[in-house]
Amino acid sequence: MEDQNYFALVVSGNAGEGFRRTVCRQRIGDLPAGEILVRVHYSSLNYKDALSATGNRGVTRRYPHTPGIDAAGIVVASHSSSFRSGDPVVCMGHDLGMNTAGGFGQFIRVPADWVLPLPEPLTLLESMRIGTAGFTAAQCVHRLLAHGLEPDSGPVLVTGATGGVGSFAVALLARLGYRVVAVTGKKSEHAFLGQLGAAEVIDRARAATGGARMMLRERWAGVVDTVGGEILAAAVKACRYGGMVTCCGNAASGDLPLSVYPFILRAVTLAGIDSASCPMARRRQIWDLLAGEWRLDMLERLSRVIDLAGLDDAISAMLAGAVRGRIVINMQEDP
Ligand SMILES: NC(=O)c1ccc[n+]([C@@H]2O[C@H](COP(=O)([O-])OP(=O)(O)OC[C@H]3O[C@@H](n4cnc5c(N)ncnc54)[C@H](OP(=O)(O)O)[C@@H]3O)[C@@H](O)[C@H]2O)c1
Repeated sequence: MEDQNYFALVVSGNAGEGFRRTVCRQRIGDLPAGEILVRVHYSSLNYKDALSATGNRGVTRRYPHTPGIDAAGIVVASHSSSFRSGDPVVCMGHDLGMNTAGGFGQFIRVPADWVLPLPEPLTLLESMRIGTAGFTAAQCVHRLLAHGLEPDSGPVLVTGATGGVGSFAVALLARLGYRVVAVTGKKSEHAFLGQLGAAEVIDRARAATGGARMMLRERWAGVVDTVGGEILAAAVKACRYGGMVTCCGNAASGDLPLSVYPFILRAVTLAGIDSASCPMARRRQIWDLLAGEWRLDMLERLSRVIDLAGLDDAISAMLAGAVRGRIVINMQEDP
């Protein structure tokens, strides 16, 4: 088995010469040590993968490297009593795809405590239609609900709404009965957001207004922000008294130009959301919701499936902010 080859998208290069992506053969024996060897059936594309694929040292320090923070597949070898050959599993986050060869390869080898049994009744494909982006959106929603957000609390703002996290958040909140206001930079996708359940769509340029003002008219009972920067700042300034803003991304900026006034005068809560190091107990809780009570019947509308050969173009599109919804990679066929 260790001598067996498989296909993977490999990123190589350095900061001086630049980075290139190629689909090539790798050897199972060269995968890192780990208790669980998984034949990957599906992976999915997340923003972090696009960063890893272009040499972002905040994500990946060592190249050549195979990105892919998500993988779903079948266990082919296990040195853990928790898993057996043939088990369908999901692996996401931790160091997968960062400095550990990730799901853009047909095999991964990882520690047992990175692996989750496939949450029934989801299929491997459905689990990757959700992936880290959907899981992160669900974590944001879970946090808002735990804070007391109810459908009659008022409108909920979702930024970066056509992206992976954003589109999933729009669909999930709408499905749970919330009035969703979606922010997008894509004029052509207002209808798509309406199909997901958005009650109103705001153009991105209008969402970043607020400038030097320390607070804005109260509008949002809750917020799912995936972009950071001026848009997140404006969302916090316009959050209603006692409301919550969940912050999970930086697609626009890592900065947050704010004063303390929304927090000390309106009791607004800013909640950070992380999926990579999310404890296993919460992972299970969120995945159980995604597979059960929160299961979306529009997963196919939210995502499209490509193969390894199409991944390079998909990464470029994501870096250009041009992706709509989720992208799943079918890893089963050799290119
Ligand atoms: N905390 C975590 O654990 C976690 C997990 C997953 C993702 N994330 C982060 O969440 C963010 C979204 O991830 P994703 O996978 O959904 O990425 P994505 O699919 O590329 O979506 C990002 C969306 O943000 C919007 N956007 C892009 N550039 C922008 C800009 N300059 N200004 C304002 N909006 C912009 C676009 O949506 P519109 O065109 O509709 O505006 C784009 O589709 C990323 O920063 C990612 O790193 C964090």
